[in-house]
Amino acid sequence: LQTETDDFVICDRVNNILKPRNDFSHKGTYGKVTIVAGSYGKMGAAVLAVKSALRTGAGLAFAHAPKCGYEILQTSCPEAIFIEGGNEIVDTISLQEDCVYGIGPGLGTDEKTKEAVLEFLKNNSKPLVLDADALNIVAQNQDNFKLIPKKSIITPHPKEFERLFGETENSFERLELAKKKTKELDIIIVLKDHHTQIITPEGRVYYNITGNSGLAKGGSGDVLTGIITSFLAQGYSEEHAAILGIYLHGRAADFAAEKYSKEAMLPTDVINEFGKVFE
Ligand code: APR
Ligand code: MG
Repeated sequence: LQTETDDFVICDRVNNILKPRNDFSHKGTYGKVTIVAGSYGKMGAAVLAVKSALRTGAGLAFAHAPKCGYEILQTSCPEAIFIEGGNEIVDTISLQEDCVYGIGPGLGTDEKTKEAVLEFLKNNSKPLVLDADALNIVAQNQDNFKLIPKKSIITPHPKEFERLFGETENSFERLELAKKKTKELDIIIVLKDHHTQIITPEGRVYYNITGNSGLAKGGSGDVLTGIITSFLAQGYSEEHAAILGIYLHGRAADFAAEKYSKEAMLPTDVINEFGKVFE
């Protein structure tokens, strides 16, 4: 049950995790994010994720997307640096060693995108965030699972979870399966839902109490991918990046709902409320 008091307790805990921004700092202090996202007609996914990464404090953000998104991205998020990785779909992903990657929103599952994602995973062993189509690609073959770097964070919604790990009868069974898989793969699973669960390889399970049905709108998940990747790049542990990210995403959505209503709020409005949550 969510009460105001509970919310304060959780707020307190999140406050303990959040590191204050140091006066004597520069953009290098806050990490580099690369968001690999978008395809023709789904460039908004890349915009939402990269904006979310910057609005949660990352020092630098790259949008690795197909050429057809160049003007869209440079116009809607001038702070991001564009890296071209194909024409209408992402078909190559270059590896920048000093970046933390968030891969998946709006990518599609074209054969060439699939090859690029799997090739990237083969060459990269650093923890990253995998979402949406990156998960749909991994789910196509059991052999792909061992390519996921240890300590990575995956953010499936229930359908993506099912594609990855198979069907379950109810949410209890699903949680048990998720616990087994986090251990087996040594990754963090963020099982997105009304009360999103974070499941760690050590067997810890966190339930999020923030957020509302205003988030049930295309693009909300892309926002979350950008946020978590940003916290990872800023040096938070994988577990802390997930906790902070999911809490902030939901709390910002609650502020957006107060302002615009659950019906009218957009994922973009959620991003614009991040500041209030940080405050
Ligand atoms: N209550 C609380 N939170 C909710 C609710 C709800 N009723 N409905 C949705 N949410 C939250 C989820 O917890 C999650 O964080 O909103 C987010 C939705 O994420 P997704 O299901 O991934 O939705 P979406 O943004 O539409 O995903 C689009 O996925 O299909 C791919 O490529 C596509 O990039 C695109 C992306
Ligand atoms: Mg999604």
